[in-house]
Parts: sequence; C-alpha cells; structure tokens
Amino acid sequence: MKGSVKWQSPSNIALVKYWGKKGFQIPSNASLSFTLSNCHTTTELRWSKNENTDVSVYLDNVLNEGFKPKVTKFFDHVSELYPVLKTFKFDIYTSNTFPHSSGIASSASGMSALALCTCSLLESIGKLDKPFFEEASNLARIGSGSASRSVFGGLVEWGEHPKFDSSSDKHASPFTEAHPVFHNYQDTILLVHEGQKSVSSTVGHGLLDSHPFSEQRFKVAQENMAKLKDILIQGDLASFTELIESEALMLHGLMMTSNPSFILMLPNTLAIIQKIQTFRKQNDCHIAFTLDAGANVHMLYPEKDIDKAQKLIDTELAALCANGKYICDNVGKGPEQLEC
Ligand code: DP6
Repeated sequence: MKGSVKWQSPSNIALVKYWGKKGFQIPSNASLSFTLSNCHTTTELRWSKNENTDVSVYLDNVLNEGFKPKVTKFFDHVSELYPVLKTFKFDIYTSNTFPHSSGIASSASGMSALALCTCSLLESIGKLDKPFFEEASNLARIGSGSASRSVFGGLVEWGEHPKFDSSSDKHASPFTEAHPVFHNYQDTILLVHEGQKSVSSTVGHGLLDSHPFSEQRFKVAQENMAKLKDILIQGDLASFTELIESEALMLHGLMMTSNPSFILMLPNTLAIIQKIQTFRKQNDCHIAFTLDAGANVHMLYPEKDIDKAQKLIDTELAALCANGKYICDNVGKGPEQLEC
C-alpha cells in the first residue's frame, strides 16, 4: 500500500502568548493568534507499508538529517493514538516560503502541515473517526503547541477559557465573532536578525516551571484573553494596541527574569518599537507591534493604515532591519490541500 498527500499550512502570530506548559503539550493559559497567509510551509507526505516506522525528511528536496529527530518524535507520539502509523515508512518533502535562517519559527506552519497530511492519511485508510480539522489541530499541538492554531484561518483560540465556549487544551478553534476590521489585518515582519533564535521554545516554556512570576503571568494571560475577546468584537483598535504590546513585552519580560535569563531583543528591536510608538502618536493611526520569542518585530495594523505603515517602513524602519529585509503578510484563510 502506497500513497501521498500534500498540504500548505501557514504560520501564525500570537496576540495573547502561549508561554508555559502544564504537562505534555498542555498550555498553562489560553492563547489567541492571527493566522498568516504568505509565510507558509508546503509538505508532501509519501507513505508506504513497512515493518516499522521509518522517516526521511527532505527540505527543498535535499535530505535533511536535522529535522529527523523532531519529526520522528512527532510520529512516536501520534502512533500512541493511532498505532497503525507504526506500520508505515514516511518520506516527507517540505519547503517554506520564508528563509529558514530568517528567524521566523517554522514549527507552527511545519507541524500543522505535517499534522494535516497525517490526518489525510488516516482518513484515507478509514482510521479517522473524529472531525478532520479538530483532530489535525490536536495532532499539530502534539508536534508544537502554537501549530494547533495554524490549522484554522483568521483569528484562532487555543486553550481552555471560560469566556470561549468551545475552548479546549487539546485543540484550537476559530474565533469568528471579531469585528470586520480584523478580517484583513496586516503583519509586516521586520527582520532584525536573520540567524537562528537563541532559546528553543521547549527550553523557554520550561523556564516558567520555576519562574517567580509564573502564577501571576498565567492569571494575567487569562484576563487578557477575556479583554481581547471584547476588544475583537467591538473593533476597539486603541485597546487592541495597548493589549498586544503589553503581551509582547511581558513575554520578553518573563524571559529576561527567568533563570537562566534570555535577552532576545536586540538594539534595533527596541529602536523599531520606539519608532512605531512615536509614529503612532504623531500620525493618528493604529500601527502596533508584537514579538515572538526572537528579535524580529511584527508590525500589525488595519488595512486603512497601509500607506502610513509603508511610509514608516521606507523612511525609518527598513534601515533598522538586517540587510533592509522585511516580509509583508496579512491575515489568511488557513491551510489548503494541494494536488501531489
Ligand atoms: C512565543 O509552539 O514553539 O511563539 O509547544 O514547545 O513547540 P512548543 O512551543 P511553541 O511556542 C510558541 C511560543 C510563542 C508564543 C505563541 O505562539 O503563542
């Protein structure tokens, strides 16, 4: 028995951050993100019957031994739920639209693409007895927590929260009640640093286990989720800016105050943040920033501010990016199955 399937799946940027786990891939607090469009991974999974699991990963058609341990671990965990997967050999062909060295995490798009392929395989052999995307999100979470959110388009919530009815720690759910201003939000990723980030997410999440502020952080994150829900429904852009910038700085504040500590912002990260805040005050617009666990800055703004944002980039921000590089993205519709 042989077959193949191909999915394209996007990256996402969190507004309320997932940082800290309780148990295996269970988040300490709920999180919410925009699914992106242009930054995505395309993965083809080719399978054939075999006596035991075997995995080969090809990045841009070249065998990549570096990805093998993470992908093997993914199949080891997922095989506990679906033992039939132990009887396949997998060849995985993957590529990203963004350079691997750009510092943009590929785990959300990569793991969601792989989870979607795995669900398609399970469905094709009659072994999937759960709703397709819900289970793809569950499997993506096993690979990487933030990947659970990339399985859906638009705004996506993951993690149990009393104000989000269908919320679950096991899988993400689309948040569909947002004001139309958020339907085509823009994200320009300012590449401050093109190298690999210096703290892995796994290490970073672990630091919260013994962090002096962790309990307070988890409480504030849950409160921010409740506030963000109202902000999204009302389309309150001033409160949106305040909340997402606070979340970004809190994430980095947690890293800076953990033991060992990590300072992932670079001088140009701070310079960009200051330019964005000054420009916003002087130009009556809603250009805001957020950060992931790295030095790059995600500049988020509504469609009506595109011209102002471009002016800010051209006159001030591009000069602060590594080799002047930035990536223009926007909220996307979610993953897409492609012909093999
Ligand atoms: C800062 O999803 O990469 O981007 O579950 O260990 O793979 P693992 O962690 P990961 O953590 C993402 C952290 C973050 C915030 C977020 O995306 O919510």
